[in-house]
Amino acid sequence: MRKGMLNAIFLFVFLLFLSSQTVLSWKKDEFRNCNQTPFCKRARSRKPGACSLIAHDVTISDGDLTAKLLPKEPEGDQIKPLILSLSIYQHGILRLKIDEDPSLDPQKKRFQVPDVIIPEFETTKLWLQRVTTDGASSIVYLSDGYEAVLRHDPFEIYIRDGDRKRLVSLNSHGLFDFEQLRDKKEGDDFEERFRSHTDTRPYGPQSISFDVSFYGADFVYGIPEHATSLALKPTRGPNVEESEPYRLFNLDVFEYIHDSPFGLYGSIPFMISHGKSGKSSGFFWLNAAEMEIDVLGDGWDAEAGISLPTEQGRIDTFWMSEAGVVDTFFFVGPGPKDVVSQYTSVTGRPSMPQLFATAYHQCRWNYRDEEDVENVDSKFDEYDIPYDVLWLDIEHTDGKRYFTWDKVFFPHPEEMQRKLAAKGRHMVTIVDPHIKRDDSFQLHKEATQKGYYVKDATGKDFEGWCWPGSSSYLDMVNPEIREWWAEKFLYENYVGSTPSLYIWNDMNEPSVFNGPEVTMPRDALHYGAIEHRELHNAYGYYFHMGTANGLLKRGDGKDRPFVLSRAMFAGSQRYGAVWTGDNSADWDQLRVSVPMILTLGLAGMSFSGADVGGFFGNPEPELLVRWYQLGAYYPFFRAHAHQDTKRREPWLFGGRNTELIRSAIHVRYMLLPYFYTLFREANISGVPVARPLWMEFPCEEATFKNDEAFMVGNSLLVQGIYTERAKHVSVYLPGKQSWYDLRSGTAYRGGMAHKLEVSEESIPAFQRAGSIIPRKDRFRRSSTHMVNDPYTLVVALNSSQAAEGELYVDDGKSFEFEQGAYIHRRFVFSDGKLASLNMAPTALGKLQFSSECIVERIILLGYTPGPKSALIEPANQKAEIEVGPLQLQRGREAAVVTIRKPGVRIADDWSIKIL
Ligand code: NOJ
Repeated sequence: MRKGMLNAIFLFVFLLFLSSQTVLSWKKDEFRNCNQTPFCKRARSRKPGACSLIAHDVTISDGDLTAKLLPKEPEGDQIKPLILSLSIYQHGILRLKIDEDPSLDPQKKRFQVPDVIIPEFETTKLWLQRVTTDGASSIVYLSDGYEAVLRHDPFEIYIRDGDRKRLVSLNSHGLFDFEQLRDKKEGDDFEERFRSHTDTRPYGPQSISFDVSFYGADFVYGIPEHATSLALKPTRGPNVEESEPYRLFNLDVFEYIHDSPFGLYGSIPFMISHGKSGKSSGFFWLNAAEMEIDVLGDGWDAEAGISLPTEQGRIDTFWMSEAGVVDTFFFVGPGPKDVVSQYTSVTGRPSMPQLFATAYHQCRWNYRDEEDVENVDSKFDEYDIPYDVLWLDIEHTDGKRYFTWDKVFFPHPEEMQRKLAAKGRHMVTIVDPHIKRDDSFQLHKEATQKGYYVKDATGKDFEGWCWPGSSSYLDMVNPEIREWWAEKFLYENYVGSTPSLYIWNDMNEPSVFNGPEVTMPRDALHYGAIEHRELHNAYGYYFHMGTANGLLKRGDGKDRPFVLSRAMFAGSQRYGAVWTGDNSADWDQLRVSVPMILTLGLAGMSFSGADVGGFFGNPEPELLVRWYQLGAYYPFFRAHAHQDTKRREPWLFGGRNTELIRSAIHVRYMLLPYFYTLFREANISGVPVARPLWMEFPCEEATFKNDEAFMVGNSLLVQGIYTERAKHVSVYLPGKQSWYDLRSGTAYRGGMAHKLEVSEESIPAFQRAGSIIPRKDRFRRSSTHMVNDPYTLVVALNSSQAAEGELYVDDGKSFEFEQGAYIHRRFVFSDGKLASLNMAPTALGKLQFSSECIVERIILLGYTPGPKSALIEPANQKAEIEVGPLQLQRGREAAVVTIRKPGVRIADDWSIKIL
């Protein structure tokens, strides 16, 4: 039979299989569990205390502390020492590396992930001058009283604070193990089999595992991506339901379940601990191979005879990876925000999105044709619902050849985009990493000729199945290939693209339909003879990076890229947004979207969201409405649906539901100035837009496990509604201050749970007393059309009648903000006076950003009505005070004290004193 025919049959059978899957759920058997993963099984069977490595020859070299690790009683291959090095960086960061000794000529250099640590971080290295040794251990000074200690026999690393209390440690339980590369000997079986796949493993087993302990910790969080609770549940130990370890292995998981430690699309090996003292510490392992992590339940080590300080609570964890090296970072905190900031000082801060990208996105697989696009677009106007971006999924292409357009359905792509752009709207098209193996497809021809594809174990271009049928995958790890890829986004190369078009990267785990676990075989080969197993989790990261660079190039470095990616790794925050993949239209998935997004934020990925409505299945209108109400507070707010689902644009569920969805979307548009300010905060500090309550209230134990509610910035608390026909909900409001209901302005006491009535109109959301939130209350077609609109400031007074908040504004699209072209104000209310202060450093020679925008209303929550006017300085003018509505929508009662039309410019210094 001809090859083409075979391919067609395969594709047909495959599509049949896919469509049959839409009614089934998660296929557990397609994915390996720990027992089926030899390195995981081996590591889990090790007993505490098994490691006998001793640190020898401790010395200072090139500003680092270095040592050799050798077993107590060396035998056979184990005689080769490992080289350990400890480096210290500013702001309380310790880096520990352990690798094979390069001077002993190992068979091959083990893979160390490049391109993740930002160059600026390297410049913060502190050169060690001195190490104190007492014979049993070597001690180096870290910062602010913290010290790093290397115990020699057996080796252990820990950080302690000024009171000699431990923070984080590695190998305290002696579980460290490092399988060195070796030649195959007689009788060795280097191959591994899973289902019908065989993995050749030419270098034999090369895994690494070790234990990490967090002291003073009640919970650990992080290591996305999993669909599970925010506080990570123990996976092993007495009284623990034995479970799989948390798996970090980027996979295209079909219909994932809502509570599972199995790996999803992204992997970020960063964990953060938190405890009653209000303190956090963090740990990051820069390693892109498959990783498995156990959280060990209390008492798991009861029989190990290991004594560690008992006065502090402690969480032990166990980390296992298939390959790579030990390149780990310890973060001292002490606060949770400090830890996230320290972590993102290593892997980079989240990039600053364009304003439009922070608004509402409308997506579906697929908008059929140009007419469909036009209809959907105009219906938004007809129903008076703002939106900013219309998305096109894979069907818009000519046969899944990315960078092309289906000639019949999308004959005039430029015109289509221009029409959207005229309304201030944008378009996003999908570009996946699998390239159709079609000799008439220029991209494929070029990639083949240049040798740009990932190779299989025999050295031929790797071929796998994905949407276009037989496909090959670009080797994005190679910088030359990324450069070439980036060029493809230039307008002359991406024919039919215009400046209002941005990009969506999907299937970049990479997804290979006929590959082991729906991905690429581990023995596939990349640039520099890197085995796929060594970098699997970073493949999607490199693809995202290449695409974001493409958009940068296209805009001459002046236009901020927008690229949404499904796969991710540590550092992906620098390249754009991510979403939580193929969720389903059910209540449990709505609920788990919150811990998933919060966890991503803790790991630096502050720009994330879940498909609003659920990707698979047809949500009941109530679920859809609740999803919009919650999604309006996700950092990334996009509705999306599978091609087999019924259409679900906001106006298709009757007048009342349309009204409810409109009002949910309005909330997001109203809060855009606040969101944008938070995106800038994330861009400067790494602190995420959506935060667990404990990040803002670190000493309140009642918040540590709460993942039904979350903070947007430090001023807004949001509680989702996750059940059908809910009549009541219990909301815990932390802190000593009150909280004001966002819709009614009613005050609720903090530091307690409230049982609240639930209405269909909104989910509960509260503004923290003591905060000021900037809003824009006029609704337009898109965020672009709101740029010159006036602001409302909502001043929520605390018990001392004080409040403060911030506003950040720039041009919303260029990089000029990096040279000072922005407005950053701090608003402070105290002693009956509101002042606007400049937060932007003023320096000569910088670019300027100006805005004529004014403040049209100032709402005072918690202020007793009485005064009739306020004095504006320096203008020396008066503004009236009246009782007005909290929100400008029809039917809202006048109930809050409002300073009307103060008319002050947001760019200026001013104060307003209540008379
Ligand atoms: C899988 C993605 O997760 C989904 O969002 C998309 O619609 C389909 N691929 C088709 O491109």
